Amino acid sequence: MKFSTATLLLAYASTTNAHGTITQPKVPKITTDLGGWRYMWFNQGSQIGCPVATGQNCGNGSPNGGNTPCCEEQFEPTLKDVEQLTYMSDKWWSAVQTADNSSTQSMLRGAAKVSPKDFASVTNTPLKRNPWLAPGHAPVVNSCGILGGWQYNSAQDYIAGPGDGYENLMNGTGGAVNSYMPPANLTIPAGTHGDVVLLEEINHRMQEAQGEQYTTNDNPRWKAGSVQNVSYSLSANHGGGFQWRVCPIEFLLNDTLDEGCFTALDFVGDESWFVYKNDNDNETQIIPFTPVRVSDANTNGVLPKGSTWTQIGLPACGDFATPDSNCDGPMFENEISKAGFWGGPEINSNSSTSPALFDIMEPLSARTDVHYTPFEIVDTIQVPKGMEGDYVLSWRWDSEQSPQVWTQCTIVTIEA
Ligand SMILES: *[C@@H]1O[C@H](CO)[C@@H](O)[C@H](O)[C@H]1NC(C)=O
Ligand SMILES: *[C@@H]1O[C@H](CO)[C@@H](O)[C@H](O)[C@H]1NC(C)=O
Ligand SMILES: *[C@@H]1O[C@H](CO)[C@@H](O)[C@H](O)[C@H]1NC(C)=O
Ligand SMILES: *[C@@H]1O[C@H](CO)[C@@H](O)[C@H](O)[C@H]1NC(C)=O
Ligand SMILES: *[C@@H]1O[C@H](CO)[C@@H](O)[C@H](O)[C@H]1NC(C)=O
Ligand SMILES: *[C@@H]1O[C@H](CO)[C@@H](O)[C@H](O)[C@H]1NC(C)=O
Ligand SMILES: *[C@@H]1O[C@H](CO)[C@@H](O)[C@H](O)[C@H]1NC(C)=O
Repeated sequence: MKFSTATLLLAYASTTNAHGTITQPKVPKITTDLGGWRYMWFNQGSQIGCPVATGQNCGNGSPNGGNTPCCEEQFEPTLKDVEQLTYMSDKWWSAVQTADNSSTQSMLRGAAKVSPKDFASVTNTPLKRNPWLAPGHAPVVNSCGILGGWQYNSAQDYIAGPGDGYENLMNGTGGAVNSYMPPANLTIPAGTHGDVVLLEEINHRMQEAQGEQYTTNDNPRWKAGSVQNVSYSLSANHGGGFQWRVCPIEFLLNDTLDEGCFTALDFVGDESWFVYKNDNDNETQIIPFTPVRVSDANTNGVLPKGSTWTQIGLPACGDFATPDSNCDGPMFENEISKAGFWGGPEINSNSSTSPALFDIMEPLSARTDVHYTPFEIVDTIQVPKGMEGDYVLSWRWDSEQSPQVWTQCTIVTIEA
């Protein structure tokens, strides 16, 4: 696939192309052979107030095949403070002001930096309805994600959605879903639901045990009432925030696992960690940072009621999507940006001094100007008292820049 520079930039600008994965605890063994596609568990075409996700390349601001909201029934954001947003640099917004208003600006206006004060009154702009704007409210098809975001009928649809999606992307008027087709030889085919993968993992274990007792997973056992570290990584950073939650495995086994069976886990303390490996010696480096929490207390409501969400702490490129973007500054400042890290899918161009990106895959990995630094973001969660047994652990990431909810699951055992 050959992109012109303009097309590529617009593809990013009108992006529906984000990626993330659980890194700790382990995900099912059978998903680790997916290469870059291990980052691809999500629900495409989901915005706040919509009754269902649509799988369409909707709501991304592109004039064709994407400028329409994902549904008619959308509602106002419940976030109240511009500090709760992750796409908010002045550079990004001033560039947007002079960009082609028919596409880029219309997409971005709604993300609220027009003026923080005007946040609540900005209307009819697709980005403003993306999942993070009302955490937990956007619908999902599968609480463990769908490989590639949806079950499409053609591999080409995974690039930019069904219908005219591919043509629109190619002529610079549409956004991407995954930017490229699933490789023909993926070990788990695109379109597979994440809960099915957990069941297959359990079945494999049963079969391998040859009549002996087996455990459902190889993750460490968690004591009820203990605190534990969990982590995720991103290969493309579209901001927003996330939550960790658990559902008793019985719901997986009887095929009724959905958003309703999950209990959100509380975050513990006021510190998270950006963890990466030094290029030179592979030494693990840890940058502690202060996470931004979002809950009923500082918004007009999150779901589940009474739960807490945490913003993605790694700032995206501050000039992301601008024609001359070289990622020379972050969307916002925090301890991570001050240590020289921001970006995704573009990079902090000062890579010799400030390694800024990630374990990312084709086609971006073909870029020689991109510096990749694998990383993970670690948070401490509280394992509730009184739980016992096997649970589905799910990471739910509500994207700010794309109409997508990223969900991925693994299994943990909780001991009394
Ligand atoms: C886009 O809109 C902004 C604000 O309304 C305006 O200042 C700018 O001139 C417009 N740019 C173009 C290229 O039309
Ligand atoms: C891009 O392709 C779509 C789908 O074929 C078409 O409807 C649209 O007019 C094209 N736009 C441009 C600017 O060529
Ligand atoms: C899958 O196909 C790609 C290209 O077609 C090839 O590079 C890769 O090695 C294959 N992977 C496996 C596991 O066969
Ligand atoms: C979580 O990880 C951080 C950073 O490595 C570490 O300081 C902290 O002690 C860990 N907490 C737990 C509960 O493992
Ligand atoms: C599935 O299992 C859950 C948990 O045990 C139970 O509450 C629910 O009633 C079951 N649903 C069906 C349809 O069996
Ligand atoms: C760091 O680890 C990677 C992956 O194991 C290896 O390819 C690389 O050579 C290592 N670099 C150094 C400097 O040890
Ligand atoms: C990146 O490099 C340029 C040119 O050397 C410099 O002006 C700029 O301050 C650097 N930015 C950061 C964040 O280090």
